[in-house]
Amino acid sequence: MWHTIMHKRVPVADVDIDEETKAIADIGHIYNHTHVPPGVFHDGTILRGRLNQWWTLRGIPSSRDGIQGALELLNVEHTGELSLRGLGLSLSDHYWIRPLRSSLEWDNINYYAHGFSEDVGDALFGKKPRNTTIHLLSPDVASNGNLKKRWKIINGKRVLVKGGSGPYYQEPVNEAIASLLLCRLNIPHVEYHLYVEENMPFSLCENFTDGHVEFIGAWDIATSMKKKEKHSELDHYLECCKGLGIPGVKEGLEKMLAFDFLIVNSDRHYYNFGALRNSDSLEWLGPAPLFDCGSSLWYQSADNMINPELNMESKPFRNYHSEQIRLVRNFDWFNADNLYRCDEECEKLLSQSVFITKLRRDALCKALNKRIGMLESIVASQVQER
Ligand SMILES: Nc1ncnc2c1ncn2[C@@H]1O[C@H](COP(=O)(O)OP(=O)(O)OP(=O)(O)O)[C@@H](O)[C@H]1O
Ligand SMILES: [Mg+2]
Repeated sequence: MWHTIMHKRVPVADVDIDEETKAIADIGHIYNHTHVPPGVFHDGTILRGRLNQWWTLRGIPSSRDGIQGALELLNVEHTGELSLRGLGLSLSDHYWIRPLRSSLEWDNINYYAHGFSEDVGDALFGKKPRNTTIHLLSPDVASNGNLKKRWKIINGKRVLVKGGSGPYYQEPVNEAIASLLLCRLNIPHVEYHLYVEENMPFSLCENFTDGHVEFIGAWDIATSMKKKEKHSELDHYLECCKGLGIPGVKEGLEKMLAFDFLIVNSDRHYYNFGALRNSDSLEWLGPAPLFDCGSSLWYQSADNMINPELNMESKPFRNYHSEQIRLVRNFDWFNADNLYRCDEECEKLLSQSVFITKLRRDALCKALNKRIGMLESIVASQVQER
C-alpha cells in the first residue's frame, strides 16, 4: 500500500507499507529531503531501517497498558494498523501519511485545528466505542509510551490524560509534584494537574506543541550523525544538536539531569526529552519543556524501600544517578531556598490518592527533603572545588 509521508503540507517521500506487517517495505520517490525526519536521511538517501524505527516508535507500543483489550474493542489486529488507519496524525509532531492518489489536505484534517474521534481514546481506557461505526482518526494512534493515555479537547484546549501503573498508581501524582518543583526552580516544563476519577488518579497536561511548533524526540536528533568513538553519549548528543543548530541544549540538559537526580527519575529515555522545531521554516527553537517525570520518587518501591540514599538507576547518559549528576557543571541556577517547605505541597497532592497511605506519604516527603539536601551538598562541594 503506497503512501506519501507528509510533513504538514509538504510531500516528503513515497513509501510502500506492507499489508501484513505494516512495516515500510520500500521507499519510492523522495520529494523533499530537508523535511525528512531528522536521523533518517544519511549520505543522500533515506535509511529504510531507521525510517521503520521512526515510524514504529511514534505509534502505540505493543507493551502499552491495556492494549490487547483496546484492540479487541476497536476490532483491529495490531497497533501498526492503528497508526496506518489513523494516518499517523499526532498532536506532538507534524508528520502524517497520505494514501497515494488521495486528496486529503493537512489544512482539512490536522488535530491542531480540527476535532478527532473519541473511539480510540475510549477503547484505550477500556470503554466500548459509542457508535457502531468505529472511527480511528485520533491523535491517540500516534502517542507513544507505556502508560494508558488519551487526548481530549477540554474548553478548546488539547489535553493529554495519563494514568499510572499499579500497585501505587503514583505517576500522575508525581507529575503534579514535578510541576510544582520545576515551577519553584524556574525550569521550563509542561504543567501537569492531578485529577482523580472514581478513586483513580490521572494527570492532565496541555499540549506543548501547536500548529507551527512540533516536538522532535532526542532519539531522532541523536541519530542525525554517526557517533565518533571518542565521544561519550552526552558529547555525541551535544554534537548532533550543534550540527542541527539547536540552541540552548547544554543548559537545558544540565537542568534536566540535576532535576532527575532530585526526584530519582528512572526513565529519562531518548523519547522523554528532545527539542522544538518550527515545522514551516525548520528552524530549531531549543529544548522542549520538561515532560514525563512520573517514573520517579520511588514510584515502584515498597514503603520500607523508600530510601533516598539508595543509588537508583538513571537514564540516558549514565546508569546511576550518582554518576549522571557528575555530568552537570553549572549549578548557578539552583537555589535550594526555592524549594523551602515544598514537602507540604507534595503532601497535599499525595493525600489525594487512595493508593498512597499516610506511612508512604510521610516516607516520600522525608525522602524528597533528603534528596534536596543531597543536591545542595553536591552543589556546595563543587563551589569549593572551583
Ligand atoms: N503535552 C504534550 N504535548 C505534546 N506531545 C506530548 C505531550 N506529552 C507527551 N507528548 C508526546 O507523547 C509521548 C508519550 O507521552 P509520555 O512520555 O508522557 O508517556 P509515557 O507513557 O509516560 O511514556 P514512557 O513510556 O516513557 O513512560 C511523548 O514521548 C511525546 O512525544
Ligand atoms: Mg514517555
